[in-house]
Amino acid sequence: MRAVTWQGRRKVSVDTVPDPIIKEPTDAIIKVTSTNICGSDLHLYEVLGAFMSPGDILGHEAMGVVEETGSSVGDLNVGDRVVIPFNISCGACFMCDHGLQSQCETTQNRDQGTGAALFGYSKLYGEVAGGQAEYLRVPQAQYTHIKVPDDGPDDRYVYLSDVLPTAWQAVEYAEVPAGGTLVVLGLGPIGAMSCRIAAHRKDCRVIGVDRVTERLDRARAYCAEVIDLRSEDADAVVADLTEGRGADAVIDAVGMEAHGSPIAEAAQTASGFLPAPVGRLVMKNAGVDRLAALNSAISLVRRGGTISLSGVYGGVADPIDMKTLFDKQIQLRMGQANVKRWVPEILPLLTAEDPLGVESFATHRLPLDAAPGAYETFQKKEDGMVKVVLQP
Ligand SMILES: NC(=O)c1ccc[n+]([C@@H]2O[C@H](COP(=O)([O-])OP(=O)(O)OC[C@H]3O[C@@H](n4cnc5c(N)ncnc54)[C@H](O)[C@@H]3O)[C@@H](O)[C@H]2O)c1
Ligand SMILES: [Zn+2]
Ligand SMILES: [Zn+2]
Repeated sequence: MRAVTWQGRRKVSVDTVPDPIIKEPTDAIIKVTSTNICGSDLHLYEVLGAFMSPGDILGHEAMGVVEETGSSVGDLNVGDRVVIPFNISCGACFMCDHGLQSQCETTQNRDQGTGAALFGYSKLYGEVAGGQAEYLRVPQAQYTHIKVPDDGPDDRYVYLSDVLPTAWQAVEYAEVPAGGTLVVLGLGPIGAMSCRIAAHRKDCRVIGVDRVTERLDRARAYCAEVIDLRSEDADAVVADLTEGRGADAVIDAVGMEAHGSPIAEAAQTASGFLPAPVGRLVMKNAGVDRLAALNSAISLVRRGGTISLSGVYGGVADPIDMKTLFDKQIQLRMGQANVKRWVPEILPLLTAEDPLGVESFATHRLPLDAAPGAYETFQKKEDGMVKVVLQP
């Protein structure tokens, strides 16, 4: 089959690789019909390269049709149309029972000290072959699937794999009070969808923040205000709008590669050039994140407010402003999305009326072979690219 593979720092290719096969009774094979590129893939493309091996298949936002099943996949059947959650979870352990599917105890990576295994997400998360491919092997398939109706385009459902539940969790964790103000930092797919979900579900004022023209323009329809960091001071604008208090809640949808942290950026870049075993040691012991977005969140949130982090962080030696977090009595919630936890609430919104605008969310629909160029364009934020759906 054809698959998008990681080959090195800022280098992906599309190769012919062996078709996946059933290895466990709980496996299924999916014929992939749509598969997205995510901001999380950009971390692998750049700063987490030390945890990748050349040839690893990328991707964790796939949907398709069940092609083959093992003998123990519950009610999953060949021919079912399914979206595959980015976390692999069993549905039966303590964590899954508590709605913490991204911490599943059956698929946790205890050797790495990390949570549930993820598709296409490096040695840190189980080195499971990803979904940017013609076929995908799904472990724990009895639970790691979302059945969707046979009608309606893929675009209606494909974001259930990650963008929708991640943004939903970000908004839930933000706990913005009725009539309150929510600031969303970063208007990539996750931040943009967080604005849409908050505007749709919560009685609150949403303020979107970014530094890319098309991303700000797209968010205007769903936000009361947008702030362009290139020309405006977010602290001053938010203070003005909130009687000087700050926002009730702030979502950080940027993560560890935030713009505006030059020293950490240099450290990340340097570690990317080390041989992989050394790079892994450096990232695990001295690795740093670019904290510009988290620091803005700490500054923008009001005293007693909540910060909800959905941007991915991976460093261990980060100088965090504990004094301000403590003094302002800030609540902090974060983590990989527990995809299946939120699906029952999201599915009723995926209708022809399309209140969240999912069917027009993709800016680019491309064949799988176009992936190398798409990664580059997405990383550089060129050509108005916000979300790419690849069609194998
Ligand atoms: N928690 C989860 O389960 C989960 C799931 C998916 C993605 N993510 C993470 O969410 C983050 C966003 O993902 P995405 O797909 O939207 O990616 P993206 O890279 O397209 O979006 C990030 C946006 O942040 C903006 N930005 C950069 N620096 C900024 C700053 N200092 N202040 C404000 N905005 C800034 C960029 O211009 C960009 O538009 C990534 O870190 C990704 O790994 C987390
Ligand atoms: Zn993703
Ligand atoms: Zn589990």
